[in-house]
Amino acid sequence: MSSLSLKEIFSAGMIEVEKPEEISRERLANLLNKYSFAVIRGIIDPNIIRQAKQKLKSIYNPDNDSPATGEHPSQIMDNFQKLSIGGAEHSGVYRPRCMRTFYNPIWANDIYGMREAFIKAAKVRNIIYGFEIDYAVDKVDNGFWTAARIHSYPLGGGFLVSHIDDIVPVVQRASGISQYFQPVIIMSKKGKGTDCDFESGGGFFELENTRYYYEEEAELGDLLIYSGHTAHGVADIDLHKTFDNRHPEGRYAGFVTLYKEFTRKRELDNYI
Ligand SMILES: [Fe+2]
Repeated sequence: MSSLSLKEIFSAGMIEVEKPEEISRERLANLLNKYSFAVIRGIIDPNIIRQAKQKLKSIYNPDNDSPATGEHPSQIMDNFQKLSIGGAEHSGVYRPRCMRTFYNPIWANDIYGMREAFIKAAKVRNIIYGFEIDYAVDKVDNGFWTAARIHSYPLGGGFLVSHIDDIVPVVQRASGISQYFQPVIIMSKKGKGTDCDFESGGGFFELENTRYYYEEEAELGDLLIYSGHTAHGVADIDLHKTFDNRHPEGRYAGFVTLYKEFTRKRELDNYI
């Protein structure tokens, strides 16, 4: 099978609905099994994303950064900011990155206005996993909770090395979907137009030896789903610009990982 273009794979994998409850699990499973990719459009209002980025930038303070490791597990169950630079070898997996994480659980103060978006994305995640739609969304269920958070990859070198998720998924599929997937909330576009936060690099996944920079095609609020079993990462963000920790500009993305604290070797920083 010859490789599809980015436009073609977006077209093939697109599900347009207004609410998570309208998603056909069977259709979604078919798309993920066939293309290792799907995109759900229409659930999250792009204006929510625009406003959240504005809010985040207005209250951003680099002095709030915690180090790349060493936090107590309970700290990330509340609003918490940390800067991760380095190989992350402490986590048991060497995975170089330069990124900032704004943990913002659904029960914490809604300081970015993302609560509604996170709840919807977590419901989509539960549909992927074949769980009850409200499972562990705004509460802890069987030790699992929704690690809602925003990742920021700064201009001038933000990146996450290309990798394959080697962590055994903490959840068993009950939905007929055979691989490890988690939805990504698209919060940035790539290019020079409206809603574009960066010009070069960006989030990518690889299928059949083709690398897809999905922010060239995605819209704000899209829920992007690709297989963790294919190579993915974030290519250097705007290396032609000077990195400046005083400013929060860069590429943003949202996550609603279903997480359970097992051991420090499986810390949340590797569920990316
Ligand atoms: Fe990953």
